[in-house]
Amino acid sequence: MKHEKNAPNSPAAPTLAQLAAGTPPPNAFDPVAEARGLETPDKDPDLCGPEGEVYAPDPLALAGARAHPLIAGTAVHLVTFGCQMNKYDSEMVAGLLNERGAGFVEDPAEAQLLIFNTCSVRGHAEDRVYGRLGALKARKRRDPGFLIAVMGCMAQKEGEHIAKRFPFVDLIVGTRQLHEFGQLLTRVREGAKTPLVAIEEKPDVQFGETVARRESKELAYLTVTRGCNKRCTYCVVPYTRGPEVSRPVAEILSEARRLVDDGVAEIMLLGQTIDTYGYDLGRDKANLPLLLKELHDVKGLERVRFITSHPEECQADLWRTMHDLGDKVMPFIHMPAQAGSDAVLRRMARGYTRARYLEVVAEARKLCPEIEIASDWIVGFSGESDADFAQSLSLLDEVRPQSSYVFKYSVREGTPAQRLPDDVPEDIKKERHRVLSERQEQIALEKNRERIGVVERVLVQGPSKTDPGRLTGRSRTHRLVHFAGGPEWAGRFADVKITGATALSLTGERA
Ligand code: 5AD
Ligand code: SF4
Repeated sequence: MKHEKNAPNSPAAPTLAQLAAGTPPPNAFDPVAEARGLETPDKDPDLCGPEGEVYAPDPLALAGARAHPLIAGTAVHLVTFGCQMNKYDSEMVAGLLNERGAGFVEDPAEAQLLIFNTCSVRGHAEDRVYGRLGALKARKRRDPGFLIAVMGCMAQKEGEHIAKRFPFVDLIVGTRQLHEFGQLLTRVREGAKTPLVAIEEKPDVQFGETVARRESKELAYLTVTRGCNKRCTYCVVPYTRGPEVSRPVAEILSEARRLVDDGVAEIMLLGQTIDTYGYDLGRDKANLPLLLKELHDVKGLERVRFITSHPEECQADLWRTMHDLGDKVMPFIHMPAQAGSDAVLRRMARGYTRARYLEVVAEARKLCPEIEIASDWIVGFSGESDADFAQSLSLLDEVRPQSSYVFKYSVREGTPAQRLPDDVPEDIKKERHRVLSERQEQIALEKNRERIGVVERVLVQGPSKTDPGRLTGRSRTHRLVHFAGGPEWAGRFADVKITGATALSLTGERA
């Protein structure tokens, strides 16, 4: 997402009287600046790739009945690090603040409330937040009314530490108390002792009827499970997000209908291991194939996809369902392999072998022939030898994913792998990262070239970032497609005949 500096007509800070009166000051927020204000600097995908533009459908129009005197009129800037789960949480918290009358500003320097939604999955994501917090100390000293909030995974895991190291932070909200953000902010404004730390492990997060303030008009995230019951030895998620909790089908359907009413055409379902959706509710009552069938019947919803798949949990029934519902369910899965050597997979406690991963891929492709697969890989995990790494490369060659995210192993405190030596030198990690990424790029280019001549159905996102005269959209297999057309195509479907390909995208013309 682009961050534009110097948004025009920056909002004036509301006076205390205006805050108390419960109405936003007139003309406080410029509509251009309003369309921004959610920032996602993090290009490291966690559940899947980053995407989307900032979008805000006249947010202040939503503020009304639920406007809160201590929140209305507040100029907010929200920065999101990490995965789609975090983006979803940010969009819901932004929606919740919107309902209470807050507005959003593009420039963090103009915000009266700066929120960081944080990620713990790798060390450098945490370091960047610490850096940005440290840089705010002087501003906070100058302007004590300026509020700083930290939410999400780091808040959950490092809340007490953040409170000690950055005592000028006002609010720290963990992953399971996000729905209480409004009340907590009110308590800070009422004079509660700060930093106010809210990191209790509540059983579930209930955003109620809140409509997300989304980055994109036509695409929306929808969380269906929170937390993870796996224990991959390198991963911090089970500790930051707790055990897996599924949302009931009816609740998901009503959120999906609200999104469709709000103009959404494509929904991306989110879960850390989405294949186990519903297991805690009773598998016969709620499971992923059943949820896809129910969503398929939602009128006005054009496309559904889901992330992330765990190779050990995928069932044949899912591939059949994807194929049968192929008019709406997108034939695309993100199923991380992580490594190609059985010894490494065992140390990672992934629960499958290389042979099993290949079997799952073969079954998926047999039952849903159109399916495309994306993967994640960790290079330089504890004890990974040259021979182990060669196995990752050869698995990549055998599977030929459409795309992959490659990560250098980063030791996370509190994970089982912390007890294993981090014994692959940084320069070797770097080199393996380069080799695997380049090999994936080559495969992506070859696979994309195979699409030349095919007509792709594209959901248009809007003008291309690099060339405003052209449009950008996504095909059914989530490939980026560029073609010529005017802005009136935004949010609509177009049939595009593919004429060119790079590793990252396709180009074409309207069929
Ligand atoms: N170090 C490096 N990469 C990691 N991932 C998760 N934990 C770590 C870690 N400690 C990667 C995995 C996962 C993705 C979300 O992030 O590949 O699929
Ligand atoms: Fe982490 Fe493994 Fe759970 Fe994915 S399945 S969130 S890698 S513990």
